[in-house]
Amino acid sequence: EDAEYKNISEKHRHLIETLPKHNGWWTPYLYNYNGFWLSPNILKSNLILHSYFKPHPTDIFLASFMKSGTTWLKALIFSTLNRHRYSFSNHHLHNHSPHSTFFMLDVESYPITDFTNSLTPRLFSTHFAHTLLPPCMSSCKFVYVCRDPKDVLISMWHFMNKIRPKDLPPLSLDEAFELFCLGVSDYGPFWEQVLSYWRASLEYPDKILFLKYEEIKKEPEVVVRKLAAFFGKPISEEEEEKGEVKEIVKLCSFENLSNLEVNKEGFEKFGTLVDIEKRGFFRKGVIGDWKNYLSEEMKERIDGIIDEKFKGSGLVF
Ligand code: A3P
Repeated sequence: EDAEYKNISEKHRHLIETLPKHNGWWTPYLYNYNGFWLSPNILKSNLILHSYFKPHPTDIFLASFMKSGTTWLKALIFSTLNRHRYSFSNHHLHNHSPHSTFFMLDVESYPITDFTNSLTPRLFSTHFAHTLLPPCMSSCKFVYVCRDPKDVLISMWHFMNKIRPKDLPPLSLDEAFELFCLGVSDYGPFWEQVLSYWRASLEYPDKILFLKYEEIKKEPEVVVRKLAAFFGKPISEEEEEKGEVKEIVKLCSFENLSNLEVNKEGFEKFGTLVDIEKRGFFRKGVIGDWKNYLSEEMKERIDGIIDEKFKGSGLVF
């Protein structure tokens, strides 16, 4: 262990003792660090990130709030960027999960993974708010995806109950709802995390492509063209004629990905922190499933909070 890492460990210990804390969704506590609720391990990763991570100018980051379409975007970004490398009849994603094509920045632990073997551009994903990232990363390109908070809540509630330790009772929807409305959830408050990227995307539109789950559902082909152009490799006329865009959309569709053996069996490793059942990343993949769970009163309350928090920002859900 070097001196810097010792400092990090000490700082982490001190933070855990002094930061405001609240009971979490699947960890005993979340800690409020610079305005965001993080579990102890993720907090430590953030300190490590600031000390050790050296971005390359060509790196591409996918940022999202949890359960907003990260898995889908990983597949879309990977297949759009690497469309010359693989054929659609024998594609890398047929036997590698979308998650395996990205490094999850938030869980890389010391000694920070040697990323030198990866393809260029290197692909990273994160759930950290933009303001929690080292400033040196802001010269890189980011794709951000957000989603209707009511669908995020329901998706997260299902997911957290899957990863919650078995010795804890299940988290009820009422509890999850209260926590979400308080802004207490991993990487939350939801609205602060979304707004951190929204504001940055207004300031640096050529660096941050801000997407919504719902717009991708409605017009996936438009989004693929947007992604390709954003990465500086627009879809050519010849590619359009060959139907490349349609192929990418089909490959990355919920129906296709969720039925691949590689996404059905086994576990996804996120650093040394957690192993998560792969099938847990594919549940329904629809817009508006919240209607099957939230009462009218709950809907009104969330909508009220969201209206207030996003008022004047120019972002509407
Ligand atoms: P639901 O729980 O509402 O079904 P993340 O990838 O950020 O963890 O988000 C998971 C959510 O995205 C889940 O939502 C999951 O079903 C959905 N999802 C996963 N793959 C998808 C795809 N290819 N197309 C659309 N939605 C997808």
